[in-house]
Amino acid sequence: MSAQATFTHMDQGTADDWAIIAKDFTAFAAQLPDRILTHLKLLDGDFGGFPIDRLQHSLQTATRAHQDGRDEEYVICALLHDIGDTLGSYNHPDIAAAILKPFVSAENLWMVANHGIFQGYYFFHHLGMDRHLREQFKDHPQYHATIEFCAKYDGAAFDPEFESLPLTFFEPMLRRVFAKPKNSIYKAAMEATE
Ligand SMILES: [Fe+2]
Ligand SMILES: [Fe+2]
Repeated sequence: MSAQATFTHMDQGTADDWAIIAKDFTAFAAQLPDRILTHLKLLDGDFGGFPIDRLQHSLQTATRAHQDGRDEEYVICALLHDIGDTLGSYNHPDIAAAILKPFVSAENLWMVANHGIFQGYYFFHHLGMDRHLREQFKDHPQYHATIEFCAKYDGAAFDPEFESLPLTFFEPMLRRVFAKPKNSIYKAAMEATE
């Protein structure tokens, strides 16, 4: 068995304990892209009444963004935007945003975090809701970008005839985007151990 810290309450933790934990953390964090790929695959076969399953919807959203010339970070945001559908039944954009937060720009993060309300323009009125809920953000700098994400990629990504690129195509991009956090309270500590 690998080395383990010995404290029973964190107030007893020593620098040696935390060296052990930090070493394991680095190895575990490096496998984050693999866990994301595994989790994305949970959406395979999950139709939820939609014309295509959620994995195909995710691939189609990412493929449309990629073929439209979006950069890698944007394409990966498109790929992951609905990854929270398995555990975030009532707030799925929050899950994707939490995963992406350390790795993407504030602009892309806002778009992912709020895509649900913006996408609602296409269906909230069919559920007795206000389709214009997104108007509350009309003065936000990302308002138009998020409308565009829904109009060109997310909203358009339900076509069973569309030929999406496979998950393996996006894997190298995913690994590059998730290679190193840009924004994390652990950033300085991680850089010190490099
Ligand atoms: Fe969504
Ligand atoms: Fe979506």
